Formats: sequence, structure tokens, C-alpha cells
Amino acid sequence: MLFVCLGNICRSPMAEAALRARAVEAGIAVTVDSAGTGDWHVGRSPDRRAIIEAGRHGIDISGYRARQAKAEDFLRFSHIFALDPQNLRDLQAIAPRRHLARLELLMDLVPGREGTAVVDPYYGDAEDFERAWADVSAAADVLIERLGR
Ligand code: 4NP
Repeated sequence: MLFVCLGNICRSPMAEAALRARAVEAGIAVTVDSAGTGDWHVGRSPDRRAIIEAGRHGIDISGYRARQAKAEDFLRFSHIFALDPQNLRDLQAIAPRRHLARLELLMDLVPGREGTAVVDPYYGDAEDFERAWADVSAAADVLIERLGR
């Protein structure tokens, strides 16, 4: 499963971390990765505030490195989740003509939150990172529930 936001330094690394941790807890083997539609932060570690937020939940993401989403991701991953509607459109624009990956908006997984964004906390504060964590965690819970069935 691949999680994709704009920079791959705030939201999608937190989504990657939340799902990976829950998968380990549940004993479910799943390939998890994240990427950004943009290339400004390629090679960088996650935003310091994202590292702190994941750390509050016992997960160390300081070793993650940002990369840009690419067409081949649609051939490598069965599921690709966009963190907001713009990310979804940008992914649709780079998707290869033929692929089997399922591309969805992440919050479409969460009942009552369909169609909504995991709001970009980059220009926000610690509370915005907390909110983003809560959103990606809720989605990770649904994914684990589905994978465990
Ligand atoms: P992310 O947050 O998409 O959640 O990683 C952002 C990170 C960087 C920028 C925007 C959003 N930026 O404009 O550099």
C-alpha cells in the first residue's frame, strides 16, 4: 500500500507509520510505503513536527526519506491512497494508461469522512499535526480491519 501527499514529509509518512505499526501489532504482512506528488523535499527526512507526532505514538520515523510518486508505483502497489483530493488528481495525471492499482482518497475509507482531505499541517502547528495523525490512524484502523478479515 502506498500513501501519497504533496511533500512526503508530513501526512503520508505519518500514514505509512500508523499503518505499518498496526500491521505489525496485528501480525499482518503488508508492504507499506509513502511518496509525494511534488519533488521539493526528495531525500529529506520527515518534518520535525511529524517526527515528534509519530514519536508521541511510539513510532520513530526519523529514518524515512522523501521520494516522489512515479508512474511505476501504479505497477508495484495494489492500493494507492491519496491524502487529499488534489493529490488524487495529481496521481490520476501520472498514472500509466493501463494499470491494476486501486487509487482512492484515503478518507473515503472512514465512515462519515468520505470525500474529505487529511488537511495539510505544513503551515500549521502541533495541533494540526495531531489532527492529521488522528485522521491517518482512523484510516489505518479500517485498513487493518479489512486486511484481517
Ligand atoms: P505534506 O506537507 O504534503 O503532508 O508532506 C507538505 C510539505 C511541504 C509542502 C507542502 C505540504 N511544501 O509546500 O513544501
